[in-house]
Amino acid sequence: MIALITGASKGIGRAIAHSFAGEGLDLILVSRTMRDLAIVKQEIKNLQPGITIHIYSADISKREGIQSLMTYLRTLKIEIDILVNNAGVFIQGEIKSSSSGNLEKMMDTNMYSAYYLTREILPTLLAKKSGSIFNICSIASLDAYPNGSDYCISKFALYGFSKCLREELKDSGIKVISVLPGATWSDSWSGVELPEERIMQASDIATMMAATLRLSPSAVVEEIVLRPQLGDL
Ligand SMILES: NC(=O)c1ccc[n+]([C@@H]2O[C@H](COP(=O)([O-])OP(=O)(O)OC[C@H]3O[C@@H](n4cnc5c(N)ncnc54)[C@H](OP(=O)(O)O)[C@@H]3O)[C@@H](O)[C@H]2O)c1
Repeated sequence: MIALITGASKGIGRAIAHSFAGEGLDLILVSRTMRDLAIVKQEIKNLQPGITIHIYSADISKREGIQSLMTYLRTLKIEIDILVNNAGVFIQGEIKSSSSGNLEKMMDTNMYSAYYLTREILPTLLAKKSGSIFNICSIASLDAYPNGSDYCISKFALYGFSKCLREELKDSGIKVISVLPGATWSDSWSGVELPEERIMQASDIATMMAATLRLSPSAVVEEIVLRPQLGDL
């Protein structure tokens, strides 16, 4: 089986790549920065030499980026079994004062990338009548929080997309899993001074996702909500 993970060069996406490799999956890792992807590929290869890993750089917030990724997959003659819509960007801000363009950037990266990439991958999964699609939403998909309005709007939208997709695909054999993490160590938190144990590790999210792959075809984990043991910040 082969999994395509977007935003796989860092943070949660990188942890998912490691966890899925641990389950024996081959991988296609995508982000904009080839150098970072090459590092992750090497890390995994050192641990799991038998895994096949392709890396591809594309800006999937743009329709052209998604098209170039699809062309690459066709060249490789690869059929995806698992899609992880993880790439995302976080910009603080309130509706009344956020800079023009911030909402659009987050909608393009956090929501439309998942929507349009899923539409491209779906025909393959529908033909196979199997597969899984993970959408990395957030606890910001559930509640508004101070100074995070535009991000919340994009993540509410992604969660809405994920729920609609689940409903549409119930009869198709394809599992749709919404993942809603709270605060998790990644570059998004760089410079924030907090004790290590105050927020989650990226591997916590990845471990839960990998566990869902072990279920029988008749069961799906529809939602995974994870929060720091000490609660939201
Ligand atoms: N960390 C948290 O506390 C937290 C909590 C809840 C949900 N999440 C969600 O989890 C996901 C991963 O977050 P993270 O914290 O791990 O972020 P991160 O460390 O900043 O990593 C983001 C990843 O997405 C890639 N990316 C960003 N824009 C892209 C684009 N336009 N096209 C392709 N790749 C792109 C980045 O690589 P390049 O920059 O090289 O493209 C990187 O690989 C996001 O959807 C985020 O909203 C995070």
